[in-house]
Amino acid sequence: MLLRDRHVLLTGATGTIGSALAAALAARGARLSLVARGEPALRALAHDTDGVAVPGDLTRADAPASVLAAAESALGPVDVLVHNAGVEVLDELADVDPEAARQAVLLNLVAPLVLTRLALPSMLRHGRGHVVAVSSLAGVATFPGLAVYGASKAGLTHAMAGLRAELRGTPVRTTTAELGPVDSPMMDRIGTHPPTAAAFGRALRLHVLRTLDPAEAASAVVRAVERDRAHLRRPRRAAPLAAVAGAPRTLVRAVLTGIPTATATASAARTVDDGQGLRR
Ligand SMILES: NC(=O)c1ccc[n+]([C@@H]2O[C@H](COP(=O)([O-])OP(=O)(O)OC[C@H]3O[C@@H](n4cnc5c(N)ncnc54)[C@H](OP(=O)(O)O)[C@@H]3O)[C@@H](O)[C@H]2O)c1
Repeated sequence: MLLRDRHVLLTGATGTIGSALAAALAARGARLSLVARGEPALRALAHDTDGVAVPGDLTRADAPASVLAAAESALGPVDVLVHNAGVEVLDELADVDPEAARQAVLLNLVAPLVLTRLALPSMLRHGRGHVVAVSSLAGVATFPGLAVYGASKAGLTHAMAGLRAELRGTPVRTTTAELGPVDSPMMDRIGTHPPTAAAFGRALRLHVLRTLDPAEAASAVVRAVERDRAHLRRPRRAAPLAAVAGAPRTLVRAVLTGIPTATATASAARTVDDGQGLRR
């Protein structure tokens, strides 16, 4: 989807990758609804990107609906939904704080599912939409100390594959970005936990992984949306691993090609019922 004048709702907008995404999206002429909890940083970013600050804690059950309502009331229907807010849990499952684990799954997996559920009907009605998930290679490869985080990202990637299957035959697209380590405080924190740091250190030394620059990661995500790419895997050298992990999903998708989906059927019925003003 070309992004000029499109309404993009970006979660985790004030973080390392989020702020790079906000800058890249604003440079393309997108109109931004920016979501995070910390209001001062959010308002400063909104000022810099000509966007709208939509404060909210996405781990709260009522937040997806209230955030979406505030964004739509400011800028109209959402065209592009970017699930970028995320948090790592850095500990072995035997030691992890149960509440931290719960919060991470709520933010990394549950909130994107619920927000997508709430935003999709409008996208289908308007005949235009794109859902983007900033997932992680930690959802493909397992690292010690990142079991909870990896599980939440694997769930997000899998849910996006299911969503893509359900949206076949509709004008709504999806992009799943599976990113390796990005130069960020998150990776600095990971560097403080010896088993996880050692695992990443070896992957970097063996050149299986490379640390990405936030602006590089953000511009790759934006280009993937502009090109309607279903998958973005960075660094490129790790892309085959993610593709192999996704092979069963790709295979089933190929097997099911041509089978009508309920979403496409409902979307087509809406077009017939309510042909006014729909752009297809
Ligand atoms: N950094 C990496 O190496 C890396 C690699 C692969 C994938 N990723 C993924 O990329 C995404 C961004 O990572 P990042 O490194 O940029 O993270 P970050 O710098 O820690 O930023 C996280 C963002 O999410 C917001 N946030 C946190 N908790 C929230 C909540 N409960 N409700 C709403 N917003 C919340 C934060 O703002 P507030 O605290 O003000 O709410 C902030 O804007 C994450 O999904 C992460 O898993 C990161």
